[in-house]
Amino acid sequence: MTRQRSLSGTIPSMETSHEELKENTIIIVLGASGDLAKKKTLPALFGLFRQGFLPRDVKIVGYARTKMDHAEFLKRGTSYIKNPNDDPEQAKAIDDFKSLLSYVSGDYEDGSAFDSLTSHLEEIESHYQSKECNRIFYLALPPSVFIPVAKNLKEHCYVTKGGVNRMIVEKPFGKDTESARELLGSLKKYWTEDETFRIDHYLGKEMVKNILVLRFANVAMNAAWDKNSISNVQITFKEPFGTEGRGGYFDEFGIIRDILQNHLLQVLSILAMERPVSFAAEDIRDEKVKLLRAIPPIERDDVLLGQYVSANGKPGYLDDDTVPRNSVCPTFAAATLWIHNPRWEGVPFILKAGKALNEAKVEVRIQFKDVTQGIFKDIARNELVIRIQPSEAVYLKLNAKTPGLYTRAMPTEMDLTYKRRFIDAQIPEAYEALILDALKGDHSNFVRHDELDVAWKIFTPILHWIDGLAGPRPRPVTYPYGSRGPKELDPFVGKYGYKRASEGYVWPVVSLASL
Ligand code: BG6
Repeated sequence: MTRQRSLSGTIPSMETSHEELKENTIIIVLGASGDLAKKKTLPALFGLFRQGFLPRDVKIVGYARTKMDHAEFLKRGTSYIKNPNDDPEQAKAIDDFKSLLSYVSGDYEDGSAFDSLTSHLEEIESHYQSKECNRIFYLALPPSVFIPVAKNLKEHCYVTKGGVNRMIVEKPFGKDTESARELLGSLKKYWTEDETFRIDHYLGKEMVKNILVLRFANVAMNAAWDKNSISNVQITFKEPFGTEGRGGYFDEFGIIRDILQNHLLQVLSILAMERPVSFAAEDIRDEKVKLLRAIPPIERDDVLLGQYVSANGKPGYLDDDTVPRNSVCPTFAAATLWIHNPRWEGVPFILKAGKALNEAKVEVRIQFKDVTQGIFKDIARNELVIRIQPSEAVYLKLNAKTPGLYTRAMPTEMDLTYKRRFIDAQIPEAYEALILDALKGDHSNFVRHDELDVAWKIFTPILHWIDGLAGPRPRPVTYPYGSRGPKELDPFVGKYGYKRASEGYVWPVVSLASL
């Protein structure tokens, strides 16, 4: 593996020098009958197949406990692949995709079941030209079976006669520093770091990947990227639905483990890290780890916890039958992190996430400092917003002279809305981008073990507090289903210096008459 890699100006993709799998490859989806496989993994594999990105002779083998015949697996496995307008090309692609699929059922703990899986894989491989075969194992599984499955795969299904083995695995990786270390330690007994691809699907999102380019390919942007210019940073995740039906899982983890400790912290680390020497995976991940190590554990005073209650005919969190009656599990959290390094000392990074809010939105909002007073009075602050979803956009709120025969400043914006700027662009699904990276052997957008460890260190003390392991459990404040969040949120964000846009600011401004 070469360490020095650079990003081309004209080809917006990471160059790769790893072993890219182009043939003789089987992708084995474990947990193939479950939700993640059905909703994300298999549709992403289809997307890659449709665009010609899967290895030439790829086969996809599903494995799960559920007994079902071939036809049933094909039906389930493609149930989330859309063809709303009955497009014949899409229908043909779905049929072709089905011809790649097969299914083996078996237990996760039983070694002999994995031998049957191997016999099936060997049967497929006997038709390959080369003796070298590659196997990619995708664990779309609950964490309770990560270890037995990793062990059985290594002991019964690992290719030893040449070729590549890779394992893709997804959160939750433990519940705190100690349990994560235990889990990672056990997995490492069987799979090396190089063979392991830990997914945080936010790292596959187009706008998250864009942060590196926005920051390091723009001198203008980079020049203002520090405590001298920036007042505060908010990274916000909002979902307009509650835990409906998923309350059992959610209650065990809560919003901090579900969203902040992984997805939002990953965004923060890319946003705040120093410039990597190159775009090689280890160079990027070294910088992320260095940054995360400069963040101390979150203080209780820097946290606001909320739980949604019934409103407008929508059920509250505690009305979900799968949630314990008196649960104090937070469905909303805001937490402020501080970075002790010369670039960021004193700049609050506020991570906010909530379920059952008023809209679906994930964005980064960087608020710059006030301009020096004297010539302007009450002038709006600059803000750079990176909208991760929906409707990907980057826009910079800046003050401009109001057009006309008078000199007045007005807040306006420079707007890069993807749908307008790149009308034909197809933004890939995060899982498509990540599975493709795993096929290429590129770890840049996967989470390294030490990155995970330091991420847990930042969150473990407040998680223990919330779990009641460090004194009485804090009670979340309530907020109505469908609202902006707890009423305490505005004062919370305000205490870190965030100033809401001045009254009357409308975005986008289409008519001066409204001013
Ligand atoms: C998952 C969380 O990791 O991310 C879910 O477990 C959440 O609770 C989901 O809904 C959000 O992902 P996306 O891609 O829809 O923003």
